[in-house]
Amino acid sequence: MSHTATQSVTLLPTLGHQVVFQGTADDAGQAFDHYLAKLGGTVESVVRGGDSLTGFMAQARIHVLGVGTAVLSVSSPANTADVDPHSYVANLTILDCVAGDFKAAQALFRRLELLPLTNFELATVRRQFPLTQELARSCGRKALAGYAFLMAIHHVTDFVAMMDALVDMGADPRHITILDKGYPYTQRHRVDAWLRDTLGIHVDLYPDRANVIGDHIARAKAQGLKSIIFDDGGHCWPIVAEHYPASMEDFVGIVEQTMSGIWKLEGVPLPLPVFSVAESQLKSTMESYGVALAGVRSILNRIPHEKLEGRPALVLGYGRIGRQVAHVLRSLRMRVAVYDKETVALVAAHEEGFATSRSLTGLIESHQPLLLVGSAGRNSLRGEHLAAFKKSAYLASVTSRTYEFVLDEFAQVAKSVHDYGRLGHGYLLDGGVELCVVGHGMPVNFYHADSLPNRYIDLIVSSLLLGGVQLAKPDQGGFQPGHNLDLTNKILNASPALDTYYDWYGEPSARRDLLTPGETAPTFQAVPWTFPPLP
Ligand SMILES: NC(=O)c1ccc[n+]([C@@H]2O[C@H](COP(=O)([O-])OP(=O)(O)OC[C@H]3O[C@@H](n4cnc5c(N)ncnc54)[C@H](O)[C@@H]3O)[C@@H](O)[C@H]2O)c1
Repeated sequence: MSHTATQSVTLLPTLGHQVVFQGTADDAGQAFDHYLAKLGGTVESVVRGGDSLTGFMAQARIHVLGVGTAVLSVSSPANTADVDPHSYVANLTILDCVAGDFKAAQALFRRLELLPLTNFELATVRRQFPLTQELARSCGRKALAGYAFLMAIHHVTDFVAMMDALVDMGADPRHITILDKGYPYTQRHRVDAWLRDTLGIHVDLYPDRANVIGDHIARAKAQGLKSIIFDDGGHCWPIVAEHYPASMEDFVGIVEQTMSGIWKLEGVPLPLPVFSVAESQLKSTMESYGVALAGVRSILNRIPHEKLEGRPALVLGYGRIGRQVAHVLRSLRMRVAVYDKETVALVAAHEEGFATSRSLTGLIESHQPLLLVGSAGRNSLRGEHLAAFKKSAYLASVTSRTYEFVLDEFAQVAKSVHDYGRLGHGYLLDGGVELCVVGHGMPVNFYHADSLPNRYIDLIVSSLLLGGVQLAKPDQGGFQPGHNLDLTNKILNASPALDTYYDWYGEPSARRDLLTPGETAPTFQAVPWTFPPLP
């Protein structure tokens, strides 16, 4: 009998990593070539194979400085029944697990994640944006020509539709700058790699935004171009006004997607028009419910085995989104209470049958929520409130960044704080009470999630673009410096995207395209269905 010798040594903490993507055999081949070019190091050997049954498959042995030898493979997964059709697995395994440098290995694994969206994935996303595509077609190929664009939009797959439309309407990707806000969206690395590698766009990081915006201004000026801002949270203009006041005249207008962005413009000089999709009637028709539903779905995804029915929930902030969150939680059969600092909002919640109180501490004490959702905007739950929790609870927020909960005060009150990875983190309090902050207090529908489902966000993306088209006109569509809410509503309420919306979603005449792979998927071999399937 032989024994394998086992050495006890310090190994690299991570020895292998994998990314699953969807694509055709050609896409998989391109992904493999992309990795060979981007992983760095010396390629020692390559084996390629595959046929029409197995799909593409290839393996390479690479020597990477600081890491040693690694094996890269791209192939179909072992059990296709467990994954989406057209799935491929890119796998990287480090063989020299003793010698390597941890940081170099981490950097290598990160490069595995930075795979641009494949053609197949792009086609899948594009099918989810009929309104945006139709709007771009109707506006024509010159609608946005001759401008540079500064964008602080989320890195989710709706960027695909937005970029397609910008380019279709004449924007040049070389004159677009994107500020990456850094949320951990589901596909953020894939979208990022597509923007940078496939489209060649300047994508820069949010913490460095003052320099990034300065660089954008210089690049646009060198080309003789004025810029239009597409913002989601007021990240750009306050910086231009503070750091580059002499360049304010190089911008022709701002299209703003969210209320927090409108608030950030308060007190900032506005010598240019604002197209506020954030405050528009059109956005309010669907977005609040969409955000509430997406937020609650994301919470459920994090805690799939929890029992919610009949149990207490508390919503902080009964505004546009909070009201919808309260109703969604009630539709899940939770007993919902509401707190808002404004009595009029409390009365509204009371009239809709929710338990309310003028004291947040009192409401927590009496209701003891299992789930608390913050949608107030800023600092709604502080360290001083935690003593009111006599039972453990999940806390989640739909507010931007980590503004909703005062987490450093929580940490001061807690006995200990624990890292739960993708779930978030937990504060252990006296008396065995645990408060789990889902998604670290970031907006839950952006935390390992994708904001809103694409078929919801389609109308909003098309509204943003319509705003850009107005501001790009020689007369700016009649928009004057400052806020133009009435005109914004007039333009959006007459948006061609609304007609397309009815063509697609208004019953009974509407189109009905399911979001499935349809006939691109392999023929199902087990018809009629047999169980268990044959091995
Ligand atoms: N996650 C997303 O996708 C998404 C999308 C849009 C907006 N948002 C964010 O969600 C938040 C709520 O948006 P909204 O449109 O519902 O705002 P809103 O102004 O309509 O409602 C906010 C409500 O909170 C109340 N409030 C304010 N401070 C409070 C406090 N300290 N305690 C209790 N109540 C308080 C206000 O009285 C108001 O009723 C904002 O921060 C917004 O930026 C998130």
